[in-house]
Amino acid sequence: MANIIDGKAISLAIKDEVKAQIPELEAKYGRKPCLCVIIVGENPASQVYVRNKVKAAEYVGMKSMLLRLPEETPEADLLATIQKLNADSEVDGILVQLPLPKHISEDKVIDAIAKEKDVDGFHVLNVGSLWIGDKCIVPCTPKGCIHLIKSTGIDIKGKLAVVVGRSNIVGKPVAKLLLDENATVVIAHSRTADLKALTLQADILVVAVGKENVVTADMVKPGAVVIDVGMNRNAEGKLCGDVDFAGVSEVAGWITPVPGGVGPMTIAMLMKNTIECFLLR
Ligand code: GUN
Repeated sequence: MANIIDGKAISLAIKDEVKAQIPELEAKYGRKPCLCVIIVGENPASQVYVRNKVKAAEYVGMKSMLLRLPEETPEADLLATIQKLNADSEVDGILVQLPLPKHISEDKVIDAIAKEKDVDGFHVLNVGSLWIGDKCIVPCTPKGCIHLIKSTGIDIKGKLAVVVGRSNIVGKPVAKLLLDENATVVIAHSRTADLKALTLQADILVVAVGKENVVTADMVKPGAVVIDVGMNRNAEGKLCGDVDFAGVSEVAGWITPVPGGVGPMTIAMLMKNTIECFLLR
């Protein structure tokens, strides 16, 4: 039976570290770090995520703002809002929750955020810096995944890591971070010919597809570390990941649950990134 990686407990410890830092930062710089979260439209999952992000900011004692814009907000208005926040010396971090309504270009919006306020690490300059190994803001979910893998005590160096999913938000950056830890990395995706043949060899398996039961027990190497980034609703409306938790936890050495695994870590890393942005400025 696998050890459960308790993302909730680990994220709470990180948030408490940040919470302890805030009074020191305020004493030194005369103000608290400030995170601004923007949501466009009514996507129910996004509503929950942004609420949790603002709640975490309140918990750690930083300033936060939540801007709710209607679904039909023109792209130009959103870009103008971002420009205002870029110019606002009291704002340290700007996060635009994705996905955006179809009429708005996500790339344009992400790249409109000042690079040094890009708490998500999605700006093309931050992505470029990550890939060439320069200092940068590292995307929250991938950063949280690495933290969870390290919490198991395994040495990542030399291990075979298989990442399932190639999104810009998770798959690609988590692969780069694993590479930075000297893992041998394979990125699998929807066109991969024989997924099971790859996952069966993985010492570390990160699954970020957004589909239930992509990885089942017969696909996992005994003792592997399995990180489930998925956040789906099953037929009964229950929250579940991309991994068949019940089956895989019989085989894996370590596994993250959903909920209570990667999700809370994303938010804890967002708090850390906001502090980084504050200090950058
Ligand atoms: N949508 C899903 N995950 C994320 C994230 O980490 N940041 C933002 N901005 N949107 C998301």
